[in-house]
Amino acid sequence: MKNTVITFKEMKERKEKITMLTAYDYSMAKIVDKVGINSILVGDSLGMTCLGYEDTLSVTMEDMIHHTKAVTRGAKNALVVADLPFMSYQGSVFDAVYNAGRLIKEGGANAVKLEGGKEFQDEIKAIVRASIPVVAHIGLTPQSVNAFGGFKVQGRGEEAAKKLIEDALAVEAAGAFAVTLECVPAKLAELISSKLTIPTIGIGAGNGCDGQVLVYHDLLGLFDGLRPKFVKQYKDLGTSAEEAVKAYIEDVKSGAFPSEEHTFKIDEKLIEKLY
Ligand code: KIV
Repeated sequence: MKNTVITFKEMKERKEKITMLTAYDYSMAKIVDKVGINSILVGDSLGMTCLGYEDTLSVTMEDMIHHTKAVTRGAKNALVVADLPFMSYQGSVFDAVYNAGRLIKEGGANAVKLEGGKEFQDEIKAIVRASIPVVAHIGLTPQSVNAFGGFKVQGRGEEAAKKLIEDALAVEAAGAFAVTLECVPAKLAELISSKLTIPTIGIGAGNGCDGQVLVYHDLLGLFDGLRPKFVKQYKDLGTSAEEAVKAYIEDVKSGAFPSEEHTFKIDEKLIEKLY
């Protein structure tokens, strides 16, 4: 059954954990969807995992639409959330609605995510008014890496903790149907989750959130860049891939591949005639 914003609401009410994972292309989306994930995030983390940038700041609307289209073709049941990339919504409310609309209309996403709290209430309200569901993202917001001075845990001091609570309540009031909490101390994330009626989706925010999100490449060991403390690697597909490619190189060099079973036949007499 297709997951929707209603599914998210009902799961929070039932205290059933929500599962979200990133995917950036058709094949990945099919795998993730097939095994029953509730939601796929086409994260702007694709800038680092797929495009090789150092951070997410260079990701464009065109990048996001391109990858979102591929994911939505592969996802049947998961709710597809696409990230609004850096500077696609920060400039004006008009930009926010226009670009959110593109992710839905051209990309086929079911919802959009944007980074920011209270200061983006107007943008969230306007996108929601256009009937586009919004996931807000607070705590460590990677698009603000330069302003933060690095990737750091957020909300540790009293003022910062209060600000995070205020941000969470503000995005809920603005109409967001869920909020991502990234790199937030577990007890604070639990407190925020208890104050909200909308689900919190944690990444590096402990077990007290209403759901969890991870980056596909981190879960499968496909990304050998920065590996934050909160990542749990379930498989090392990176090493398996290296081994497989090495074996392929050896087989090609030795002539072991392609063998009979991977080869098409033709009538021997015809071949002789052609020589
Ligand atoms: O871009 C992304 O993958 C994200 C997750 C880390 C939540 O925003």
